[in-house]
Amino acid sequence: MVEITATDSTKDEVGALVFDMGSYSVRAGYAGEDCPKADFPTVIGVTLDREDGSAPMETDGEKKPSGTTYYIDTNQLRVPREQMEVMSPLKNGMIEDWDSFQGILDHTYKMHFKSEPSLHPVLMSEASWNTRAKREKLTELMFEHYNIPAFFLCKSAVLSAFANGRSTGLVLDSGSTHTTAIPVHDGYVLQQGIVKSPLAGDFMSMQCRELFQELGVEIVPPYVIASKGLSGNTMLGVGHVVTTSVGMCDIDIRPGLYGSVVVTGGNTLIQGFTDRLNRELSQKTPPGTFQQMWISKQEYEEGGKQCVDRKCP
Ligand SMILES: Nc1ncnc2c1ncn2[C@@H]1O[C@H](COP(=O)(O)OP(=O)(O)OP(=O)(O)O)[C@@H](O)[C@H]1O
Ligand SMILES: [Mg+2]
Repeated sequence: MVEITATDSTKDEVGALVFDMGSYSVRAGYAGEDCPKADFPTVIGVTLDREDGSAPMETDGEKKPSGTTYYIDTNQLRVPREQMEVMSPLKNGMIEDWDSFQGILDHTYKMHFKSEPSLHPVLMSEASWNTRAKREKLTELMFEHYNIPAFFLCKSAVLSAFANGRSTGLVLDSGSTHTTAIPVHDGYVLQQGIVKSPLAGDFMSMQCRELFQELGVEIVPPYVIASKGLSGNTMLGVGHVVTTSVGMCDIDIRPGLYGSVVVTGGNTLIQGFTDRLNRELSQKTPPGTFQQMWISKQEYEEGGKQCVDRKCP
């Protein structure tokens, strides 16, 4: 049995592993290190064995008893294969296909960590809207199948806030499949304030492709596309996602959220993204934001002197 104590967790032999699986890529590494040890596509290639039962002549790939072979990681995926289908274990940021999810975990343990799952505690990130059934199923899988000694499941927005030294903030995450604004307060996600938009990396790439086709060779940076107004769609732009999310939270904590907007996700690396967001927010944030923090006479008369503890913490 492995006991996790403050001193133990700093020892190499029980080094915790961190898995952060996004729709675009899987990031996995050792807790405490600056970057992930592994970073590879979340999609996997799947081929079915031939009808006579023989497998294609392949040296790589992970053969499954079910008669399928999984091709995982950049090197294996970059090879065109006859009748290979490409699929993702995730849907809407949550685990949908458990078999291929396990395929990815097996591959990461075997090829990247080169270690036994039973030796390491695991911290895993999850979407803020993950369901109870899926969280429980994952916990069971990690303890029963992988026999890990300890497990922690943490909302990725909370991890992003903590990584920026904050326990309260508005986390704006723009990845490949979705852009989300998630209010985090004292280390907890405020579920009622989650706002999602499908306007993210995949959509940007698609728009770029269409624009290239329409315009010939003209190269248009993605942030210009965003400002052009996306032909006839009603998806929320990034500034709007933030203001809508903050607007759904308690008025008392809004200034704190606007005061620490944490930007994360690969799509936010596009040139001009944060400048543009800053500009949009300074236009959209109600001018009374700081004034709302003051104790008004009316509040004093209704709530008495105790309101100073709440409004001026
Ligand atoms: N330097 C960059 N400039 C612009 N876009 C980038 C850059 N690097 C990555 N991207 C885009 O970021 C997206 C991937 O972001 P990220 O790794 O945060 O997604 P994910 O967490 O795997 O997926 P999701 O959050 O949608 O589940 C892709 O669409 C990719 O094209
Ligand atoms: Mg992500």
